[in-house]
Amino acid sequence: MSKKIAVIGTGPSGITALKNLLDQGLDAVAYDINSDVGGNWIYSDNESHSSVFETTHIISSKTLSQYEDFTFDDFDPLTSDYPSHNELRRYFQAYASKFNLYPHIRFNTLIIHCKWINEGKWEVTTESAGIRNTEIFSDLVVCNGHHWNPRWPEYPGNFTGEFLHSHSFKKAAPFEGKRVLVIGGGNSACDVAVETSRVSEMTAISWRRGYRIIPKFFFGKPSDKIGERSSWIPLKIRSYFFDLLLNIMVGDNSLYGLRKVETKFGETHPTINDELLYKIRHGKVKPRLDIKRFEGKKVIFENGLEEEYDSIIACTGYYLSHPFFDKDFINYQSGPVPLYLKMFHPKYRNLYFIGMFQPLGCIWPGAELQSKIMARELAGKWSRPKNIEELCELEVKKPHYHQISTPRHTITVDFHKFKKDLLKHLPKDYVSKKSLKEDVNFKVG
Ligand SMILES: Cc1cc2nc3c(=O)[nH]c(=O)nc-3n(C[C@H](O)[C@H](O)[C@H](O)COP(=O)(O)OP(=O)(O)OC[C@H]3O[C@@H](n4cnc5c(N)ncnc54)[C@H](O)[C@@H]3O)c2cc1C
Ligand SMILES: NC(=O)c1ccc[n+]([C@@H]2O[C@H](COP(=O)([O-])OP(=O)(O)OC[C@H]3O[C@@H](n4cnc5c(N)ncnc54)[C@H](OP(=O)(O)O)[C@@H]3O)[C@@H](O)[C@H]2O)c1
Repeated sequence: MSKKIAVIGTGPSGITALKNLLDQGLDAVAYDINSDVGGNWIYSDNESHSSVFETTHIISSKTLSQYEDFTFDDFDPLTSDYPSHNELRRYFQAYASKFNLYPHIRFNTLIIHCKWINEGKWEVTTESAGIRNTEIFSDLVVCNGHHWNPRWPEYPGNFTGEFLHSHSFKKAAPFEGKRVLVIGGGNSACDVAVETSRVSEMTAISWRRGYRIIPKFFFGKPSDKIGERSSWIPLKIRSYFFDLLLNIMVGDNSLYGLRKVETKFGETHPTINDELLYKIRHGKVKPRLDIKRFEGKKVIFENGLEEEYDSIIACTGYYLSHPFFDKDFINYQSGPVPLYLKMFHPKYRNLYFIGMFQPLGCIWPGAELQSKIMARELAGKWSRPKNIEELCELEVKKPHYHQISTPRHTITVDFHKFKKDLLKHLPKDYVSKKSLKEDVNFKVG
C-alpha cells in the first residue's frame, strides 16, 4: 500500500506536521474536533479543548516562539513581544492559509479509536455529525496536545463552595467580590491568581513547595532572549548563573512571604510572571501554604490557619492523554515516556508523536523540526538509527534536566539543546517558506 498518513489535531503541532508531510509530496489528512486550526489558542467562553483564558499571553517571547518557515515578521512585524491568544490564533490560521493546508483538514471530526494492525497499517475510527467511519492509513501522527485533560488534587474532607480546575477558568468577572483560593505554583496558578485578584474580595495562592518567579523582562529584553545568549554554556553552569541573576534581580521568596525555593533553576518547570510578586506586595494576593483538609467552606492549611473561601481554582496541571488508544497499547499518564527525540516509538515504526514535550521555552519551533525529520523519513530521505530502543531508554535515563519527581515532569527538554539535537538530523536548507501548490488530485472526503 502506498503511504497514506493520518494526523490527529490541527493545533500548532498538527499544522506543522501536515505542512511538512505535504512539502515532501506525501498523501496526508489531518482531523480535528474543532472547526478551525489553532488548538489550545482558540479561546472560547465555553468549555472546549482550549485551556487559555480571556487575558492569556504567552510566556515565551515571539522570536523564540515562531516557525522558521513562517516567522512573525512574515505574518505581522508589529506582533507584540509576548502575543495574546488571539494574535497566536491568527498566526496559526495564517500559517495554514499560507501553506494551503485547509483542503487537507477534516474539521468537526473526532478521532475515537486508533488500532495498530502492523508496520504499514492503522485502522482509524472517526466520528463526525454522529456518523462513525473507519479508514485505513499506513502511518499515524499524534498531535492531540497535552494541556487539556485536568489533573485534580485530592484532600481529606469536603469543600462545599465552588471547586473548578484552571482548564475551566475563562475570565475573572464571575469571581467579583468572592474569596478565592488558587492552588499551584505553575504558570496557570500565577496568571489566574493575578486575574482574580483584580476583582475578588480576597485572592490567596497555595503552594506545596517554593517556586522561583521569573520576570518576563530583564534589562528591557524578554528574559528568554537573555537565556538564548547563554545557550552555548553547559546547562549546569547556565542554571547556576540564572539562579544568581534571579536572586539579585528579584530577591528571596521570603521577602514576599512565599515558600523558600529549594530547587535549582530547571529542576521545576519555570514560572514566568511579572505581576504576581507586585500583587503580593500590594496585598492583593495572599501567599498560603499547602492545604491540609476541607470542612464545608473552610480550608485548613498546613500551618493550622483556617479560612473560608467561596471558590477554589485548582491550577494543578494536566494529564498526558491519548484516549483513542487502548490503555494496554499506550498509556503515558504517569510516565515514563521513552520516545527517541520525543517522537519515535521504540516498537511501532509507523507511529509518530509531534509536540509532545515540555520545553523550557516554546513548543512549536521544536514541533516544526520534529515534523521535518518525520516527513523526511516517510519520504525515504532519512532513516532512524538502528539502536532506537536503546536511544529511547537513554532519553529517560539522561534527561536534559534532572527535575524533581512530580507528575508534570515526564517530558521536559531544554529548548536550545533539543533544537540542536533535532537539527543534527536535518540538511542545511531545511527552512522552506514556499507556499504549497494545491494538489488537484487530492480528495478530502
Ligand atoms: C494557558 C496556557 C498557556 C500556554 N502558553 C504557552 C506558551 O507560552 N508557550 C508554549 O510553547 N506553550 C504554551 N502552552 C502549551 C500549549 O499546549 C502549546 O502552546 C500548544 O498549544 C501545543 O500545540 P499542540 O498542537 O501540540 O496542542 P493543542 O494546541 O492542544 O492542539 C491539539 C489539537 O488536537 C485536537 N484534538 C485533540 N484530540 C483530538 C481527537 N481525539 N480527535 C480530533 N481532534 C483532536 C484539538 O481539538 C486541538 O485542536 C500553554 C498552555 C496553556 C494551557
Ligand atoms: N501565560 C502562559 O503562557 C501560560 C499560562 C498557563 C500555563 N502555561 C503553560 O501550560 C502548561 C501547564 O501549566 P499549569 O500551570 O496549568 O500546570 P503545571 O505546570 O503542571 O503546574 C501545576 C502546579 O500545580 C501543582 N500541583 C499539582 N498537583 C498538586 C496537588 N495535588 N496539590 C498541590 N499542588 C499541586 C504543581 O506542583 P509541583 O511543582 O509539585 O508539580 C505545580 O505547581 C505549562 O506548560 C505552562 O507553562 C502557560
